[in-house]
Amino acid sequence: MGKDTVTVTDNRTGRQVELPINSATMGPDAVDIGRFLRDMGYCMYDPGFLSTASCRSSLTYLDGEKGMLLYRGYPIEQLAEHSNFIEVAYLMLYGDLPSPEQLAEFSNIITHHSMINESLKSFFHGFYHDAHPMAIMVGVVGSLSAFYHDSTDIANPRHREIAAHRMIAKMPSIAAASYKHSVGEPQVYPDNSLSYAGNLLNMMFSVPCEKYKVDPVAEKALDLIFILHIDHEQNASTSTVRLAGSSGANPFACIASGIAALWGPAHGGANEAVLSMLDEIGDIRNIPLYLARAKDKKDAFRLMGFGHRVYKNYDPRARLIRNMCHEVLAELGDARDPMFELALHLEEIALQDDYFIERKLYPNVDFYSGLIYRALGIPANMFTVMFAIARTVGWVAQWMEMISDEEQRIGRPRQLYVGPTQRDYVSMAQR
Ligand code: ACO
Repeated sequence: MGKDTVTVTDNRTGRQVELPINSATMGPDAVDIGRFLRDMGYCMYDPGFLSTASCRSSLTYLDGEKGMLLYRGYPIEQLAEHSNFIEVAYLMLYGDLPSPEQLAEFSNIITHHSMINESLKSFFHGFYHDAHPMAIMVGVVGSLSAFYHDSTDIANPRHREIAAHRMIAKMPSIAAASYKHSVGEPQVYPDNSLSYAGNLLNMMFSVPCEKYKVDPVAEKALDLIFILHIDHEQNASTSTVRLAGSSGANPFACIASGIAALWGPAHGGANEAVLSMLDEIGDIRNIPLYLARAKDKKDAFRLMGFGHRVYKNYDPRARLIRNMCHEVLAELGDARDPMFELALHLEEIALQDDYFIERKLYPNVDFYSGLIYRALGIPANMFTVMFAIARTVGWVAQWMEMISDEEQRIGRPRQLYVGPTQRDYVSMAQR
C-alpha cells in the first residue's frame, strides 16, 4: 500500500481499491476518486458537496474553525487595512501584489473600460420600473456577450484577460443604471477621475441638475466591503460560474449565471433578508420570540446573516464590517441607529444561546453589511447587486484559473437514481 493513498474495501464483495491522495498546501488533502466508478462500480453520494473538492485552486483559502480568510495567501485583515479594491483585484487576477507601475496600468485599464455600449442602455428601458435590480443584472450582464464578441474566444488568453477587465470595469456602470432605472432618473456616465467605489456612488446618486461630491467615508466603507466580498472559495455562485464555464460558454454568460445563483436568500440575498428580518423583529424585547422561532424546526424562519457552510467560528469579514459599521454610522448616519443596536443585541443574545453555540452559528458577512449600505443611502434591493459587483473579481479569477487548468473538463455530476425502474408505456384506454 502506498503511503499517500487511501484503501477502500467493499464489504459486499471484499474488493479493494487504492486511491491516491492529492496534497493541499493548507486545509484537507483530497482523495482522488476520479476512477472510483470505473474501478468499484459506485459513485459518491454527497448532496451539497459537503466533502467534495470540485477543483484545484490557488486563489482563496478559508479555515472555518479558525475564522481565517486568505486571498492568494494574504490575510483579509491585512488587505482590508492596507490595500484597496483595485489592488486586491489585481492580486486575484495575476497572483501577486502589483508593482506601482503595474497597479497604475491596471487601474487605468479598469477605469477606461467602464463605459457601456450606448445600445446596451436601451435594454434598461425594457424592464418594468419596479423590476428587481438583480433581475436586470442577470439579463444585462448576459447580454454583454452580444456586444463584446471580440473577446469571447475562451481559448485565447488575451481574450480572456480583456473579458475579465471589461466585466470588472462595467459592472458598476450596469449596477448604477439598474438603480437609476428603478428610481426613474437618467443614467449617469462614469467619471474617470473617481475611484472604483467613488465612481459607483457618483453614478448612483448624482443627478444632472446638481453637483454631487463623493463622501470619503462612504467611499472608504464601500471599498472595504468590496474587498471583503471579492472571493470565497467554491461557494454556490462561484461553482455555478465554473460549471457554466466548463462547457466552454462565454465569460459574460458565465458571470450572468453566477449573478443568478448569488441572488438566493441562502447566499448573497441574505444581506437584503437581514434588514427585512431586523425590521420584522422591530424591538429588542422581541428578540427571544424570534430566537425561539429560529430554533423551531417546524418554523421556516431562520436567523438571516447567521451560520455558514464553512465558518464554524466568527466570520472574519463580519468582524471587519461590524467595526466599519460603528465608523460609518458615527460619520454618516445615526451613531445610535436603533437597527444597529438591535443587530448588536441579537448577536450578543444568539451567541450565548446553546442552540447557536452547539451548532457553531456565528454572524456571517451579510449580518452587518446591509446596515452600512443603508447608512450610505443604498436601498435594500441593491444590496445583493453590491455583492455581485465585488464578487465579479472572484468569478472572473476563478473562471480564468479553470480555463487554464489542464485537468479541467466539462462538469457533469452523477446521480443516485431513485426513480421507477424500466416499465412499458400504458395506452390511454388502459389507464
Ligand atoms: N438560523 C437557525 N438555524 C440555523 C441557521 C440559522 N441562520 N443556520 C443553520 N442553522 C441550523 C440548521 O437548522 C441545522 O440544524 P440541525 O443540525 O439541528 O438540523 C444546523 O444549524 C446546520 O445548518 P445547515 O443548514 O445544515 O448548514 P448549511 O451549511 O447547509 O447552511 C447556510 C449554511 C445556508 C448559510 C445557513 O446557515 C443559513 O441558511 N443561514 C441563513 C442565511 C444566510 O445568512 N446566508 C448567507 C451565507 S454567507 C454568504 O453566502 C455570503
